[in-house]
Amino acid sequence: MKITFYGQNTLAIEVSGKYIVIDPFISGNPLSKDKVDVNSLKADYILLTHAHEDHILDAETLAKNTNATIVSNYEIAMHFQDKGFNVHPMNHGGNWKFDFGNVKYVNAIHTSSFPDGSNGGQPGGFVIEGEHKNIYIAGDTALTMDMKLIPMITKLDLAILPIGDNFTMGIEDAIIASDFVECDKVLGVHYDTFGYIEIDHEVAKKKFYDAGKDLMLLEIGESIEL
Ligand code: NI
Ligand code: MN
Repeated sequence: MKITFYGQNTLAIEVSGKYIVIDPFISGNPLSKDKVDVNSLKADYILLTHAHEDHILDAETLAKNTNATIVSNYEIAMHFQDKGFNVHPMNHGGNWKFDFGNVKYVNAIHTSSFPDGSNGGQPGGFVIEGEHKNIYIAGDTALTMDMKLIPMITKLDLAILPIGDNFTMGIEDAIIASDFVECDKVLGVHYDTFGYIEIDHEVAKKKFYDAGKDLMLLEIGESIEL
């Protein structure tokens, strides 16, 4: 499994020969818009955690370019189905075996209105069980006890957690979240994009290190292999 970070919560995942893009937000991201060309991205599936603009802005462009299937909660899936896109609706607690692995849509504590204020259902995260590795993409969320349910079912190899604070968990809560999901290997997301969520990278890494955990912060376009 190869995971590439494109800023905010945008990730490209290659697994079992399939391309998955999470929460495409590039053209409106001051940190990535000059570094990444949305039109260069490959996608068989686009997974959307919730309807906020910093998670869906480039979903239509990417879906048009690639004919990818948009996977999200029911309300978001219907929103894009009405516009003619291929969708796969899910809801909290539900699993589906895709051709790249099992996906479960899990709870998140946040909101999920579309940019125009219309109903984006309830926000979520994704647990992806790939051929060899399992990951948790928390999406935008507070620390929540529900995270403890994840390791009862899935042994994670990586937890992708928001760390920017203000709109989501900050660093201290993300450290506790990594305890709850029983995964000490964390990829931090949802930081630095706007003034409200700027962080000190070295302080963040040291706090995780002191807690016996590994926080990875990738450059825009940088990849890791699991
Ligand atoms: Ni959000
Ligand atoms: Mn967000």
